Amino acid sequence: MCGIVGYVGSREAAVVLLDGLARLEYRGYDSAGLALVHRRKVTVRRTAGRVEDLRDLLGENPPRGRTGIAHTRWATHGEPSDRNAHPHTDTSGRIAVVHNGIIENADALRSALTARGVALASDTDSEVLPHLVAEALEAGAGSLAEAVRAALAQVEGTYGLVVLDARAPDELVVARNGSPIVLGLGDGEMVVASDLAAVVRHTRQVVFLDDGELVTVRADGIEGSTRIAPTTVDADTGDYALGGHPDFLAKEIAEQPDAVRRALAGRLDTRFATTRLGGLELDPRDLRGVRRVLFLGCGSAYYAGEIGAGLVEELARIPAAAEPAGEFRYRNPVVDPDCLYVAVSQSGETADTLASVQELRRKGGRVIGAVNVIGSAIARECGNGIFLHSGPEVSVASTKAVTNMAVSFAMLAVLLGRVRDLSVADGRRLVEGLQSLPGHIAEILERDGEIAEIAKRHAGASSMFFVGRTRCRPVAREGAQKLKEISYIHAEAYPASELKHGPLALVTPEMPSVVLVPDDELLAKNVGTIEQIRARGGPVVAVTDAELPDGLADDVLRVPRTEPELAPILLAVPLQLFARHLAVALGRDVDKPRNLAKSVTVE
Ligand code: F6R
Repeated sequence: MCGIVGYVGSREAAVVLLDGLARLEYRGYDSAGLALVHRRKVTVRRTAGRVEDLRDLLGENPPRGRTGIAHTRWATHGEPSDRNAHPHTDTSGRIAVVHNGIIENADALRSALTARGVALASDTDSEVLPHLVAEALEAGAGSLAEAVRAALAQVEGTYGLVVLDARAPDELVVARNGSPIVLGLGDGEMVVASDLAAVVRHTRQVVFLDDGELVTVRADGIEGSTRIAPTTVDADTGDYALGGHPDFLAKEIAEQPDAVRRALAGRLDTRFATTRLGGLELDPRDLRGVRRVLFLGCGSAYYAGEIGAGLVEELARIPAAAEPAGEFRYRNPVVDPDCLYVAVSQSGETADTLASVQELRRKGGRVIGAVNVIGSAIARECGNGIFLHSGPEVSVASTKAVTNMAVSFAMLAVLLGRVRDLSVADGRRLVEGLQSLPGHIAEILERDGEIAEIAKRHAGASSMFFVGRTRCRPVAREGAQKLKEISYIHAEAYPASELKHGPLALVTPEMPSVVLVPDDELLAKNVGTIEQIRARGGPVVAVTDAELPDGLADDVLRVPRTEPELAPILLAVPLQLFARHLAVALGRDVDKPRNLAKSVTVE
């Protein structure tokens, strides 16, 4: 959600900023811009469109300057257009600001500025910031940092922002409240960004800014209130490069065997037929004290939480459920001291999930994180949890992180089960099942060509059903989600049992259904579901680890057989490939679907 980069050092800033923007474009891609200071003058270039459009606008001779800021936008206030693109400046052009977040009292601030004679040049909430900073400087603020502090004192809302001042050309002022900011400490230079993707190319020494912090960044150091010591991150430039894959989605799907291996590493205890999740900091007594588990997340993280709830209930026999974090935070939920709340988030920055965690902590709830990005707001707010270790995810559609969420929840369910009545034999069976997941996923990936052919055959559909029951109900929801977000084909997920209560009316030869058929105790029922759909002329793609009768379905996406409880993890993988191939066949930009952005840090 909006990408921010800032640079101060000895190199030409435009080069670093453009490179950073390209790496952050997945956070937002409806407009892009930069501002540089050179000879005490700020030059701004910005445009609606993508980073490539900005690059074209700059041409062979980008503006000069060794200090600069840049932004790639995902519109919240004001349509995507040149005038609404960041950076925004004050009327004199002295101050330039890039901002990620939402200024909630922007209307009041805009009216007040207008009443004071300030001519506003955009429709955005962010534009108030440079004007307020300029006013504070005029009113006698002793430094840019002091002026930014005075401006922010008038602001309600969330921000990650970087401010540039023509008269302080060797520094940037950076502040955070609710939107991520990371400072990269290079050799005689600093790179500021909204996430690591723009930083690791230059340095791995970083400081994650905390909410409420405001610092001045110069080439040789940070001045201000940050309490956190620099940490060394192990992300690699290669994590953010395509490495021969056609798109990041393909890359991230292909990385899943390794990602799952990382998630499992050191966490399987074959001796005691259980798992070890040290990050939870819960001993067996604490684990036995858990009477309920509630998974909270948004979008695909929520669906992964539904898979987790099924696993916990089945293996540990504890009531478990999942809820969209955006609902939980506003419905004044009863916070149960015996419930283990699990905040699920790839980015660790999703606003609704973060707010749920904060609400729970305020009310004394026990909340752990299931987060991918180390150092992210949710990871820090929770303190304890399970890191997903899927590696950086760049494509907007989440794949390897969702798989690692489900794998992590399977480990959590085994852990909770083994201090209750999950037997040694079942514990061992599941631990061995978990161990073989990476190999099984690799086998599914080998069927890529076959899945592509099936997907292409359905590229003409305007709508599809995804059907699953019990363990596979969330897999159907996730499959439909993947398809609609990257192909723009309407897709709806239904529990198989619900079809005949209404949706069957929509089944025609033009309406394909993707039906999940795990080889479990409900196999015969799922076969019956396929027969019902086909009896109405509906084409069926079966996704299965079972031997199905010949000709039962029009197409079959086959996965290796695993333990029935773990089957949802494998059955979700061909659906990722199916969605991607279908979207590619339709010419979609699979990494940057329209209207979406990675990590939704605003409401
Ligand atoms: C879908 C997708 C989104 C995210 C959701 C939560 O492919 O990526 O639905 O799952 O925005 O994001 P995180 O996991 O970062 O909290």
